[in-house]
Amino acid sequence: MRGPLLIASLAAMSASAAAGVGPTYVSIGRDALPTAMDVASADHAALSFEAASGDAVVLGIPAGELEHLSQAMHAAHGRCGGFMAHDSLADARAAIAPPAPEAPIDYTIDRGDVVAAMLSGIREDAILATIRALSSRKNRYYRSESGAAVALWLRDRWRGFTDRDDVTVELFDQGYPQRSVILTIPGTTRPDEVVVIGGHLDSIAPGGTAADAPGADDDASGIATLDEVARVLLAKDLRPERTIQFMAYAAEEVGLRGSLAIVREYQRRKVHVVGALQLDMTNYQGSDRDIWLIDDFTSPAQNRFVAALIERYTTATWGVDRCGYACSDHASWHRAGVPASMPHETRSRDRNRNIHTARDTLEVSRNNASHAVKFARLGAAYAIELAKGTLGPAAPPAQTMASAPATTPGAPIALWQLCGLVLSAVALIAASRANERTSHADTTPSAA
Ligand code: BES
Ligand code: ZN
Repeated sequence: MRGPLLIASLAAMSASAAAGVGPTYVSIGRDALPTAMDVASADHAALSFEAASGDAVVLGIPAGELEHLSQAMHAAHGRCGGFMAHDSLADARAAIAPPAPEAPIDYTIDRGDVVAAMLSGIREDAILATIRALSSRKNRYYRSESGAAVALWLRDRWRGFTDRDDVTVELFDQGYPQRSVILTIPGTTRPDEVVVIGGHLDSIAPGGTAADAPGADDDASGIATLDEVARVLLAKDLRPERTIQFMAYAAEEVGLRGSLAIVREYQRRKVHVVGALQLDMTNYQGSDRDIWLIDDFTSPAQNRFVAALIERYTTATWGVDRCGYACSDHASWHRAGVPASMPHETRSRDRNRNIHTARDTLEVSRNNASHAVKFARLGAAYAIELAKGTLGPAAPPAQTMASAPATTPGAPIALWQLCGLVLSAVALIAASRANERTSHADTTPSAA
């Protein structure tokens, strides 16, 4: 299709590109094209137009320009980054291609008894303690030592949730110090169909590895919420029909890179993910309604299912809002044709303005986790109603087929502040290599 079209001076490569940081590719909103051109022309840097699809374009740009582009995006569009950086043109093109069509899914809500058992186990104090543990570290930056260490901490914590040997907790390595963490509860009868619940493990603030970035809301709250769902599902010994995977993504704040790497690997292995729920910011209550379903880069059908789950299993109020761009990891799944949803803590205009600063602390949420509890209830309901299943050890297969009792429905029960240097490390993207997996090749669902 369109060959590279030079839209800024090729003659004058930026110093950093000339120094060998190398060209890279960004996918970015079409509306941001003038901003990118201004950045390139101010620095006399090369900018090539590579591809376009819908509202997005792919640009080739020297890697050394990404930090300037990030700052300009913040200034001009209020987005902290607001573009995705890619190692190859093929990846960048894939990112802007129209999402693959979603396979139809039968969304039924018929596991009231199992969900009720889980909801009774969800504890606000557990969520609060996890947010506190995560946000008391200096930062969880994807390239810092503390960012790397927190992934190991979470892996070990999740391993302590059960002594079942069918449940695995593994790291997903894509070449950064911080790795993603994946807890897998294998499905009994449909193990090749995977339900994903995720949040991002990393935090960010100006200063990169040296910054104080507690990230209590963004996104210790989401990780603590999914952590509580995993804890309760395992404490109650859930035996889901479909496989459930809990994912704590690395490197979201620098262009969704952790989730993009996992999605790419799952596409390569043809892993069938039937749905993904993203928990990014769950504990700051700033709007007149509790849960806001993001309606861009998400699935209308799955969003209707999520809304029905809120109605059925929580007392929370909800509304619909949008990010306006690929604001979190749900977009990585959405682009791959996986039905994705992102229930959010506020509507955009009421957002927590402390994120991406040293002030993103638990005090902002008055040192409680009452808001996040609503999302934990929703997350548990989502996992159970999409993955189905029963409590306790699975019956032997023959008995399961022949004499499993019918389930009965239970009773209804009740930018981002300044983030100027957010992508400062993006210039190091050239170092990133193909996503490389650690020892868990045998433990996550294989291609169907
Ligand atoms: N949690 C935010 C996204 C967010 C912020 C959603 C406020 C809704 C309200 C996320 O961690 C983030 O910062 N995303 C980046 C984009 C990403 C591609 C680097 C952003 O919003 O700029
Ligand atoms: Zn963020």
